[in-house]
Amino acid sequence: MKKAPAILILSGTTLLLAAALIGVLIYLRNQPTPQRGIQPLVEIAQYEPDSSKWGLNFPNQYSTFLLTKDNKARTAFGGSEPYSKLESDPRLVTLFAGMPFSIDYNEERGHMNSLTDVRETKRVNEKTPGTCYSCKTANAPRLWDQMGPEEFFKTPFAKLGEKIDQPVGCANCHEANTMRLIVTNPALEEALEEMGRDWRTFTRQEMRSVVCANCHVEYYFKGEGKYLTFPWDLGLSADDVADYYNQIGFKDWDHKITGAPMIKIQHPEYELYATNSTHYRAGVACADCHMPYVRNGAAKFSSHDVKSPLFTPEQSCGACHTDVAYVVDRVKQIQNQVREVMDVAMDALVEAIGAIEKAAQDPQADPELLAEARQLHREAQLRVDFINAENSMGFHNPEEALRVLAKATDLARQAQLKAIQASSAVIQARK
Ligand code: HEC
Ligand code: HEC
Ligand code: HEC
Ligand code: HEC
Repeated sequence: MKKAPAILILSGTTLLLAAALIGVLIYLRNQPTPQRGIQPLVEIAQYEPDSSKWGLNFPNQYSTFLLTKDNKARTAFGGSEPYSKLESDPRLVTLFAGMPFSIDYNEERGHMNSLTDVRETKRVNEKTPGTCYSCKTANAPRLWDQMGPEEFFKTPFAKLGEKIDQPVGCANCHEANTMRLIVTNPALEEALEEMGRDWRTFTRQEMRSVVCANCHVEYYFKGEGKYLTFPWDLGLSADDVADYYNQIGFKDWDHKITGAPMIKIQHPEYELYATNSTHYRAGVACADCHMPYVRNGAAKFSSHDVKSPLFTPEQSCGACHTDVAYVVDRVKQIQNQVREVMDVAMDALVEAIGAIEKAAQDPQADPELLAEARQLHREAQLRVDFINAENSMGFHNPEEALRVLAKATDLARQAQLKAIQASSAVIQARK
């Protein structure tokens, strides 16, 4: 009888130990695979452009990254099928009259296709500078280091292309071996510096968005050397960017129908998101939705199959939202609302363009009012384009997207009115 308590104590202790062990195992399972302190199989050279070499050390990240090549599915407003945006909305041909986007403008695809797609677009011609490669290739960081950014940017696209054989890859976002997230694009480094910010002091969560700002931003080519520059000195909102371009008197092209000095906005995902969106203010990063944690056996890692989160709502949204179906439905509603308001703004722009075209054909039209109408056309279109070229159809910042479009519609109607007021018939009638 004396043995019983001993057995009880023993089995009790075993149970406790087993529970503790299970606890530790569960804890470990829920941690992402550590990024430091693991012995890499192979040493990676600094700025190594070839992602397959990094892949030897990190097969999970590499194999998910490779998936970006073959993604082809489409969502209501995004996805990876490279359909022509011009064919789906012929108004864009009027809006971009006289610039290469009116020839060729396709929906974007996954990171592995970046090099093929930039080489195939009809927008590239013999005048295209090397600057265009900045966001398309993992060769860029090493070339910036070897040639210096100035030389890189001013080398013609075709000539620079001889040194380039990789799409976007590990070297665009990571430091070799430490795997630390880093800023690689000199234009981003300089834009942040101008704003008095040093990314080396950023938190890990901030870096999980800032690495995307290496590329998913608005930019322009400064001066003869086509130096890649972000227009961020006055702030990141569409209004700040418009003011910046007005201050420096920059234009990308002259509108073929109205003669207005125009700006082509690129893909300001980072700017729209960081202009006080709900998720940004809550500290959510781009990677939280676009690179959610996934599993392969015991390994938990960031999916490098970067694409629309609508393909992976459980992983992308479910980490924070319990009602995933509800938030996915909100995306749909937000995008439809933004699309509707953008249609109103685009129709107003097309009418403004028509009114200016008509007034410009009138030899007695008032040149000052006409000039004002052209400036308003520029201002209105920059804002519509800011939301149209941003790739989330407003989801990244719904309130701001609707505010910008409302302002754009007002500016477009003002442009139309000025053009009508400029015509000699109206001036005559007033006298
Ligand atoms: C809260 C989640 C969330 C965050 C954070 C987020 N996105 Fe998105 N993103 C989305 C959703 C949802 C879409 C819409 C996808 C669609 O329409 O198929 C989207 C669309 C996109 C697209 C277009 C995808 C496509 O299929 O065409 C890009 C590019 C993008 N986001 C980049 C970014 C960048 C860069 C950041 C950070 C500055 C960011 N996103 C932050 C959820 C997010
Ligand atoms: C577009 C930018 C980008 C590219 C390209 C990229 N990564 Fe990452 N990577 C990230 C982000 C963001 C994280 C999350 C880091 C964090 O949470 O601290 C990450 C995390 C990692 C981690 C840490 C563990 C994990 O999964 O969270 C490893 C290892 C890694 N990446 C390997 C690679 C390899 C190998 C490649 C090339 C095949 C690559 N990455 C390409 C952005 C990128
Ligand atoms: C070095 C430049 C670069 C970096 C850094 C980068 N991207 Fe991209 N991204 C691109 C380019 C270029 C494309 C379009 C490729 C194409 O259409 O061929 C793209 C496409 C995408 C798409 C659309 C994919 C699809 O299937 O339609 C998403 C979503 C996206 N990026 C999100 C991100 C996020 C999130 C980050 C940061 C973690 C990031 N990107 C970092 C250059 C970059
Ligand atoms: C890292 C956490 C995180 C992730 C991932 C995340 N969200 Fe959120 N989301 C939040 C927070 C925090 C809020 C702020 C409101 C709240 O506390 O619920 C929010 C709010 C929202 C709102 C309400 C927005 C508003 O303006 O009121 C919607 C809609 C939403 N999220 C959709 C999504 C979708 C869709 C995804 C996946 C593509 C997603 N979220 C991923 C944390 C997250």
